[in-house]
Amino acid sequence: MIKYLGSKRRLVADIVRIFRAFPHARRIGDLFSGTSRVGLAAKRAGFAVIANDHNAYAHTLAVGHVEADDGPLREVARAELARLRDAPPHHGFFTRTYCDEARFFHPDNGARIEGIREAIEAAGYPRPLRQVLLTALMEAADRVDSTCGVQMAYLKAWAPRALRPLELRVPELAPQPAAGPCRALCLDAREAVEHMDVDVLYVDPPYNQHSYLSNYHVWETLVRWDAPAVYGRARKRTDCRTRKSPFNAKATCANALADVVHRTRAPVVVVSFNDEGFVTREAMEAMLRPRGPLAVLAREGPRYIGARIGIYDPKGRKVGTPGRLRNREFLYVSCADRSLAACADLPFTDP
Ligand SMILES: C[S@@+](CC[C@H](N)C(=O)[O-])C[C@H]1O[C@@H](n2cnc3c(N)ncnc32)[C@H](O)[C@@H]1O
Repeated sequence: MIKYLGSKRRLVADIVRIFRAFPHARRIGDLFSGTSRVGLAAKRAGFAVIANDHNAYAHTLAVGHVEADDGPLREVARAELARLRDAPPHHGFFTRTYCDEARFFHPDNGARIEGIREAIEAAGYPRPLRQVLLTALMEAADRVDSTCGVQMAYLKAWAPRALRPLELRVPELAPQPAAGPCRALCLDAREAVEHMDVDVLYVDPPYNQHSYLSNYHVWETLVRWDAPAVYGRARKRTDCRTRKSPFNAKATCANALADVVHRTRAPVVVVSFNDEGFVTREAMEAMLRPRGPLAVLAREGPRYIGARIGIYDPKGRKVGTPGRLRNREFLYVSCADRSLAACADLPFTDP
């Protein structure tokens, strides 16, 4: 899976344990799916998952990992990836923009990524094969990138992994769960929630002002393949300036979250949020308490990579020192139905 800020790699086992604590649960909604690792783990655990993310690259990952089922598709994908490996390298917009003007990938890998991407476009693959192949390409490109895990900047000297050859692999897939087929949506969360008829809604929004589109703009371009106008050293898409999420602004985040909590018909809502985001623990509890019993689980973990490296100006001079190196991730489990809370082995307290 791709390197991703806010990815729940360390928490995913706890999250699935929470889903499993509700014996009635069959369908899970993953409203902000990102890498799709939570949706894929839930699918593996037997839940029918609906994943959603408003960015095209994350939606592609959700189709590639969650909507697509393991089975005959795996062999088809393997055969197509073997063919795509031989696609002739192409030095066009992608390589010029992200490898010459910026240095996100070594130009040899950039031209291979571009050649393979052109071949995927030309072949006109149907859903979900197209998204499985794009997921394979994105994940292969991520393994040879030259960044710290975000695309706001690239490293001055090539990362050792950037000098390795690009290698396509079939993405992680899971068989269709007994609970039913899985689906992926690409909508704003406040609209997607209306389409999610689920037993448990998992809500993992951005926690601060850093936009995922800006942090992962190269993936958005790789998936959309729209050769957009770009700006700045990082060659960001100009639509990074206009495509905003209400969850990325202090003034609107809490209301947008409250809107989602208000609109969902899911009896159980699980929210991930940490102790340095826009919404404090007190505010989150106040938002969720009126729904019914609430359990709050806390986990300590390392902060994002930027906090550990320090703060530098564009010339590479250290201009600040990072604050604390660890933070607390909270998992809020809100149950609108007392009888469901009574069955689950979680530390619920009543409103
Ligand atoms: C914290 S990340 C989710 C990480 C994910 N759970 C994982 O483990 O990879 C938040 C996600 O919310 C998406 N997002 C931000 N604003 C959104 C909105 N208004 N509607 C839908 N998705 C949104 C971002 O694209 C990002 O992928």
